[in-house]
Amino acid sequence: MTDIRNRKADHIALALQPKHQAQQSSGFDRLRFEPNPLPQMALEDINLGSQFLDQAVAAPFLIGAMTGGCDNGDLINQHLAEAAQACAIPMALGSQRAALEQGLAQNVRRWAPTAILLGNLGATQIQQQGLDLAKRAVDSVQANGLMIHLNPLQELIQPNGDRDWNLVLEAIQHCAVELEVPIIVKEVGAGIGPASAKKLMDAGVNWVEVAGRGGTSWASIELDRNGSEREREIAAPFIDWGMDTIELLPAVHAACPSLGLIGSGGVRHGLDIARCIRLGAQMTALAQPFLAPALESAEAVVEKMSTLQEQLRWAMFLTGSQDISDLRKAPIQ
Ligand SMILES: Cc1cc2nc3c(=O)[nH]c(=O)nc-3n(C[C@H](O)[C@H](O)[C@H](O)COP(=O)(O)O)c2cc1C
Repeated sequence: MTDIRNRKADHIALALQPKHQAQQSSGFDRLRFEPNPLPQMALEDINLGSQFLDQAVAAPFLIGAMTGGCDNGDLINQHLAEAAQACAIPMALGSQRAALEQGLAQNVRRWAPTAILLGNLGATQIQQQGLDLAKRAVDSVQANGLMIHLNPLQELIQPNGDRDWNLVLEAIQHCAVELEVPIIVKEVGAGIGPASAKKLMDAGVNWVEVAGRGGTSWASIELDRNGSEREREIAAPFIDWGMDTIELLPAVHAACPSLGLIGSGGVRHGLDIARCIRLGAQMTALAQPFLAPALESAEAVVEKMSTLQEQLRWAMFLTGSQDISDLRKAPIQ
């Protein structure tokens, strides 16, 4: 277990380094809204309110899943959860595997009594340990939903990562049928495309978080941690593996129009949030941008959320969108 704790601490330190963000442009800049210099509304009248999992949220973004299970993980989660509660913004937890395997208390619900909280486990953990683990992940934090992450490239590069991905889809399907809360299947930065999204939908999954290329690169982070020359040589061509969030969103939306879609992977400000919504996402998620504020204080996370909301409001004003449903139709180039 010390191994997991050290790995998680490494992840936090490395995720803060700019060299582990995608080195090529995320492509978000390619999407331009047609400017509307006649907004015909007051900035303060714009409504960012949205619905997620049948609840009202202040704006269409959530705190993306970030690690727990290391020495300062509790404090990070406390700051994120307090801010989520204060701002009515949902929070996805990082992997609960370490806490569940060590039987540690997970206190997050205490800091966010009414916020939407999403549990998190790796798909291979569920494949190996079954539905019971998924139920415990949900019950231990009274989660409103469970996120299941798919990270095959990260597992290949990670020393001793999981390499047997047989029956993973079946394990997800079992959760979709048996759990009482919705499940959301996500990647971690390489993306989920239309073919996989269809398989997930057919397995009963109602929500997909694309987590495409463009932001935090887990291949880059795990390569940095891998001391084996041979494994580094094998992994090198895959450093940029995956597809950009901005390409994946319209493709998944077109292939699976009834699937709930969360745009993520390289979302860095409120204008990117607006772009994801315009391309078919109901919600968006940002992970790495919340990490530095979360290490500081709940107030710093609240401040970050307020900046994101103001940027989204500006994007809506400049496209003449009074609410999120107008933004979905805003003209683009
Ligand atoms: C420090 C850190 C830890 C993460 N831990 C998890 C995790 O435990 N489970 C998970 O599903 N995703 C995890 N992620 C991946 C993010 O949820 C997200 O999919 C990915 O970082 C891409 O989004 P970003 O570019 O906004 O960071 C983590 C990300 C960061 C930065």
